[in-house]
Amino acid sequence: MKDVMILTGAGQIGMAIARRMGFGKKIVVGDKSLKNAETIAKIMNEAGFDVTPVEMDLSSRESIKNLISEALKYGEISMLVNAAGVSPSQAPVESILKVDLYGTAVLLEEVGKVIKEGGVGVTISSQSGHRMPALTAEQDELLATTPAEELLSLEMLQPENIRDTLHAYQMAKRCNEKRVMAEAVKWGERGARLNDIAPGIIVTPLALDEFNGPRGDFYKNMFAKCPAGRPGTADEVANVAELLMSPAGAFITGSTVLIDGGATASYYYGPLKPQE
Ligand SMILES: NC(=O)c1ccc[n+]([C@@H]2O[C@H](COP(=O)([O-])OP(=O)(O)OC[C@H]3O[C@@H](n4cnc5c(N)ncnc54)[C@H](O)[C@@H]3O)[C@@H](O)[C@H]2O)c1
Repeated sequence: MKDVMILTGAGQIGMAIARRMGFGKKIVVGDKSLKNAETIAKIMNEAGFDVTPVEMDLSSRESIKNLISEALKYGEISMLVNAAGVSPSQAPVESILKVDLYGTAVLLEEVGKVIKEGGVGVTISSQSGHRMPALTAEQDELLATTPAEELLSLEMLQPENIRDTLHAYQMAKRCNEKRVMAEAVKWGERGARLNDIAPGIIVTPLALDEFNGPRGDFYKNMFAKCPAGRPGTADEVANVAELLMSPAGAFITGSTVLIDGGATASYYYGPLKPQE
């Protein structure tokens, strides 16, 4: 038996983190697109990793539980990397909330029930959640602690209160951060840690959909005017994951690390600040 890493989302960010941290482990990769999972499994297996692809849907508790049962066949789960998601240009409001907000909450809860002592997890939110004004303390607490099955019934998430897909995505990503804080407390009871990474624009198929979508100019302007002056790479996100998931990060749990080339800083106090 080997320790197992569960990877959800066979995209560029997920693969970069799995390649960095998945050596010596069994990696079970779940994706709604079995083809994406198989593609990554092939690339990684040909590079010395031990990867099994599984079809799974992050928006379904049953599917998440099935993925966990598959993983447990190989050994104890010591790592979780959640990099599955849909972006504002890829899906309607309802799917964004179901996948990015509800699905992430369920996954963190279900893996938290079985994570091995000393285990670590990361989930990927987004800088996008940092551009929305602060919610009230009460709203934050509701996002953090409402039982997952009741999350999508919260008043703030009803269609009349969600302006568009970008707003849905921002609410989902804000919820991810709050959820990680609340779940980190439970993971801690098992001697495990859980953190969140909020990336800025990272060149992946998801981001390329955004560059070519209705907000393309907005995104290109964003990386041109951020302090780094460029979009990031998935391997740079893996640098952060490596810190969070290794012993050097032993005192970090319940945190969100923003890695966005300074785009958020510029949004508040620089050239990316929205004009009144
Ligand atoms: N690329 C960026 O610029 C960027 C920036 C901030 C945050 N993110 C976040 O990073 C995460 C990974 O994005 P990426 O850029 O690597 O994208 P990607 O498109 O390369 O990969 C995302 C993967 O998630 C899978 N997926 C979609 N819906 C699913 C579902 N319901 N169940 C299971 N799998 C599903 C897709 O099939 C795809 O393989 C997402 O949560 C995204 O919101 C990306």
